[in-house]
Amino acid sequence: MLRTVTVKMHEGAHPQTCETDGVRESRILSVGELGSVPVATKIDDSDAVVWRTANGDIGVAARSCPHLDWDLCDAIVDGEALLCPGHGWSIDKSGRTYKSNEFGREDEKGTTPSWSASEREGGIWVTLDED
Ligand code: FES
Repeated sequence: MLRTVTVKMHEGAHPQTCETDGVRESRILSVGELGSVPVATKIDDSDAVVWRTANGDIGVAARSCPHLDWDLCDAIVDGEALLCPGHGWSIDKSGRTYKSNEFGREDEKGTTPSWSASEREGGIWVTLDED
């Protein structure tokens, strides 16, 4: 098994990037930095928001709401998704964006950039790209 580890310096506090078997990942936070509220981070040059879902998974999406650019660090974790306080759109960890009405109907609103994330070695890692 080929394992290549490359450490690059980023402007943020978490400079580690590694590549394993053609999958490039970046460590974006320490696990202890993610509590019950969304946290801002940078992924390459993109502003992103990280949250822990009700099931304990990790969501990572673009920091600006795709509706009218509300800062999603101010969003509320609502089950598996973020609920934007601007106008009530929801963003799930796949980047799916929708608005729910009081009867449970979900109207699709498109998608926003998102990253798959995992926890290991005390950090939260996102997949940047795969060969
Ligand atoms: S700005 Fe987020 S729902 Fe309108």
